[in-house]
Amino acid sequence: MRILGIETSCDETAAAIVENGKVVLSTTLASSLQLHAKTGGIIPEIAARDQVKAIIPVLETCFSQICHSERSEESLSLSEISSEILRFTQDDINNFKNSIDAIAVTTGPGLIGSLLVGVETAKALAFAWHKPLIPVNHLVGHFYANWLTEDQPPSFPFLFLLVSGGHTDLVIVKDHGVYEWVGGTRDDAAGEAFDKTARLLGFDYPGGPKLSKLAESGNSEEFKLPRPMINSGDFDFSFSGLKTAVLTLAKDKQFTDQQKANLACSIEEAIVEVLVKKTVKAAKEYGTKEIALGGGVVANRRLREAMKENWDCVHIPPPSLCTDNASVIAAAAFYNQKEIPWQEVKADPSLHF
Ligand code: KG4
Ligand code: ZN
Repeated sequence: MRILGIETSCDETAAAIVENGKVVLSTTLASSLQLHAKTGGIIPEIAARDQVKAIIPVLETCFSQICHSERSEESLSLSEISSEILRFTQDDINNFKNSIDAIAVTTGPGLIGSLLVGVETAKALAFAWHKPLIPVNHLVGHFYANWLTEDQPPSFPFLFLLVSGGHTDLVIVKDHGVYEWVGGTRDDAAGEAFDKTARLLGFDYPGGPKLSKLAESGNSEEFKLPRPMINSGDFDFSFSGLKTAVLTLAKDKQFTDQQKANLACSIEEAIVEVLVKKTVKAAKEYGTKEIALGGGVVANRRLREAMKENWDCVHIPPPSLCTDNASVIAAAAFYNQKEIPWQEVKADPSLHF
């Protein structure tokens, strides 16, 4: 079964065609991230307008790849999109239509303007092409990065740690479609903590990867930062206090390059230590043998290392599958085929686990 996945929950416009929830036949992604670099975060209105510009070229690229029958992966920049609108014949469009069995779309959570672009496009295609439409919760989609790698997927039940710019959640995944949320952030998400502290060090949005790169040449001895909620009895997280601690430390200070690297290293250590300690504690308490990770922060080298050092069986997909993409949405739809009439599919910005 071939499913076309569409993902537009935030600043990425993505489409992918995945066979039987496992083989990515075609995947295309355009991002408006560079437009948000100077503003310190994503401006919903700008992200939504870019979704409108990108959605058709992204779908066309995704389909043209599959019609040339080679597995491929493509990232489009917005300038390419505006200058390279593809032109298709009626035969091409019939080929596209015949190459898929169902359409899956992220219905939430996310930014409403962005979500609507994907949801309404998916509904229009489902209506015009008489294809089943499968709504997918974006958060659940993140589990399925672990089904798209060469490795064996995790065995149920497993503990899933989702760490992205918008979410920090611990979930026990008991089966496809059966999961229990056990904890999450009470304020900033882990990615947000990286981005906001990175901003205090002078990095553009998203500063997480840049802070992490700088941390490689630092040490965590010089600056002692708090580990918020590390010993709380629950599985919740809080990262806003860390941001305040860094703000207090950095205020009116002129750091040398080495001190800046040391501070970056301390920030990274503080975030990673809390994430790893709480995840391991939850795995022990709920008796799950396997842990799987997802979300953009999984690109963090320290987090990957520390998770492996502290737990025997950890599934860590490559960063390209951990960040937002449409392949995981198509894979999630394959394993959770609750097809509903397209008229009833609605964007829900505050959908949760
Ligand atoms: O999942 P994602 O691509 O987007 C959503 O938030 O949905 O995650 C992006 C987040 C950003 O906050 C970014 O700074 C963070 O992931 N991130 C990193 C690294 N790479 C991406 N944080 C720390 N270290 C990294 N290497
Ligand atoms: Zn995401």
